Amino acid sequence: MPSHYKLVTAKAPVNIAVIKYWGKANELLKLPINDSLSGTLGIDEMCATTSVAISDQFQDDELWLNGQKQSLTSHVQMLIGAIRNRSSIGDEYTKYKVHIASYNNFPTAAGLASSAAGYACLAFALGRTFGLQDPVELSKLARMGSGSACRSLFGGFVQWVRGTDHETSKAIQIVDHEHWPEIRVVIIVVNDRQKDVPSGEGMRRSVETSNLLKYRAESVVPNRISEMKKAILDKNFETFAQLTMQDSNQFHAICLDSEPPIFYLNETSRQIIKICSIINAHYDKKMVAYTFDAGPNACIYLLESYVPELLELIRKFFILTQGELEIKGIQYDNKTDIDEQLLCKLKNAGILQMPDAISYLISTKLGGGPVLVDTHLSDATLKPL
Ligand code: DP6
Repeated sequence: MPSHYKLVTAKAPVNIAVIKYWGKANELLKLPINDSLSGTLGIDEMCATTSVAISDQFQDDELWLNGQKQSLTSHVQMLIGAIRNRSSIGDEYTKYKVHIASYNNFPTAAGLASSAAGYACLAFALGRTFGLQDPVELSKLARMGSGSACRSLFGGFVQWVRGTDHETSKAIQIVDHEHWPEIRVVIIVVNDRQKDVPSGEGMRRSVETSNLLKYRAESVVPNRISEMKKAILDKNFETFAQLTMQDSNQFHAICLDSEPPIFYLNETSRQIIKICSIINAHYDKKMVAYTFDAGPNACIYLLESYVPELLELIRKFFILTQGELEIKGIQYDNKTDIDEQLLCKLKNAGILQMPDAISYLISTKLGGGPVLVDTHLSDATLKPL
């Protein structure tokens, strides 16, 4: 063991926005053009794990992601630099190089907010290494890595206040995950071979070419944020679901309004939207709320009581040609019969079985923010161990 060595490991959650961040006012600092709001998902089902080591034996700052050495992007360098500058553990430590190993327990390729969990975890683990505790401060630092990451510093429902500079653009918690315990989340991982436009590039394109984006940021989001906060505080699922779906639709409308247009949704995503709309119309109230990020995967917010029927419906329409559809995460044993009239309506609307259109489901709920853990990533790169 060298004379100076410190190792910290943390886990951080994924968050899924119900009011989307899309468009930057400042590319370098990642200041957004509008506030956004998200739910933080349970860390047990999906998380990033990051170990950070500092040592007088390290030659360079180095990073490994899922075991692969990565070059340090300017944003990661900025994040590391900013944390060193704010260090409260003594000057000699800030001279030491850091080794970082990070790992996601869900496929990064699935486009499931992996950068949000990853950068939140990095900011949290680096922060703890250098003596920084305040989650609001850490949210500003995570934001420099990836904008949406700032919201993963808190559990429950979280608002990213857009602000006008580094100090004012930060995440704040609206309620913790125990406020509305009935909320559940089902993520439908859609099969898709097409490479999507990366979100940073897509945002730039929308900022440069879409008038609808300007209108959204100035005239729609401010009211929508207030309405959404009220719906969450009142636990009003009807309004929550309505706003969530409207906001997802508007985000994808902006993608189409960009030049050249960006298509994140595919045929399966559209089928999922149709199924959700028919379910809500059938019950004459909102049972499910879909939302889609920069990719075809669906995230469905719903109340616990409706999960069994939704899972049955997904199993019915999204069959696999080989084996059974896997549901990762929280299991529901109580199989339920699908309402016959609902099934008729879906069939009459032309919803057909789509073999192999989806790969698997993740069943989860809201959870807390990042945590320190005792089990360090046993990666050779964090030597000396
Ligand atoms: C569609 O946070 O990945 O998921 O700041 O460029 O790293 P950068 O973008 P990122 O954008 C996520 C956008 C979104 C909506 C959201 O999470 O609010």
